[in-house]
Amino acid sequence: MNYKHAFHAGNAADVLKHAILVLVLRYLSQKDAPFRLIDTHAGAGLYDLAGDDASRTGEWHDGIGRLLDGMQQKLSGLPPEAAALLAPYLACITACRAEHGRMAYPGSPVLARMLMRRDDRLVLCETAAGPAKALGKAIGRDKRVSILPLDGWMVLKAQIPPKEKRGLVLIDPAFEDRDEFATLARSLADAWRKWPGGVYLAWYPLKDQTLVARFCRNLAESDLRKVLRLELMLGGTSGLTGTGLIAVASVGSHPGPRPASRLAA
Ligand SMILES: C[S@@+](CC[C@H](N)C(=O)[O-])C[C@H]1O[C@@H](n2cnc3c(N)ncnc32)[C@H](O)[C@@H]1O
Repeated sequence: MNYKHAFHAGNAADVLKHAILVLVLRYLSQKDAPFRLIDTHAGAGLYDLAGDDASRTGEWHDGIGRLLDGMQQKLSGLPPEAAALLAPYLACITACRAEHGRMAYPGSPVLARMLMRRDDRLVLCETAAGPAKALGKAIGRDKRVSILPLDGWMVLKAQIPPKEKRGLVLIDPAFEDRDEFATLARSLADAWRKWPGGVYLAWYPLKDQTLVARFCRNLAESDLRKVLRLELMLGGTSGLTGTGLIAVASVGSHPGPRPASRLAA
């Protein structure tokens, strides 16, 4: 396994995923009842955009670099609706930079921890030794957080529905394996069947349109309801041509089989 998120931290895919993660966590915080976040593929937690890995690719320049220069926001060209949606996320990045330095960038675990309350719980899965060690350092001692050096797909199966009954599952695989689209579609559908009251966010790359089309068809044919498919095109014709995110809203209880969906259309 060669994937290292430090090469990609703060890129456009991270911006879309993290901006929505922040909005969902703020939404979950509107009710007093605690929530649980299960981050199945957590990464290292905190990144240095001036470090060797991020500098080697420079991907962050087309991501967070277009929105923030150090602590300075660069939102003047954006429609007000877009600026308003990005504001909570940018406030988190600025707070992270105030604590860790002006080139710091928080991964999903650090963002989540910033938005947790006293009784909320965070479960972080990371199987690679290097990122797992860095993650432990980034999170420090926190009784609300469990860092598990275990397979995130397995932990997802084992931990839902959580005792809090409210929460979010973030699935952000490395996509090094061609089967990962099929695993993601199957795991999402299985998890939702067990816990339709959860909110789900799942990232996927736009590289191979055939795989993406099959993935969306699989989701459309599953029982999943209230699914939003978000895709941001990045330009270019090879490599990562865009970034995708599946967001599944909470449903009170399992509503039974659903009519045909238009997700794949
Ligand atoms: C895309 S990165 C995660 C980025 C992170 N979610 C964020 O937004 O900051 C994917 C991570 O999953 C880890 N990983 C790969 N397979 C895994 C598995 N089966 N279970 C848990 N972690 C895994 C990789 O080592 C890598 O650090």
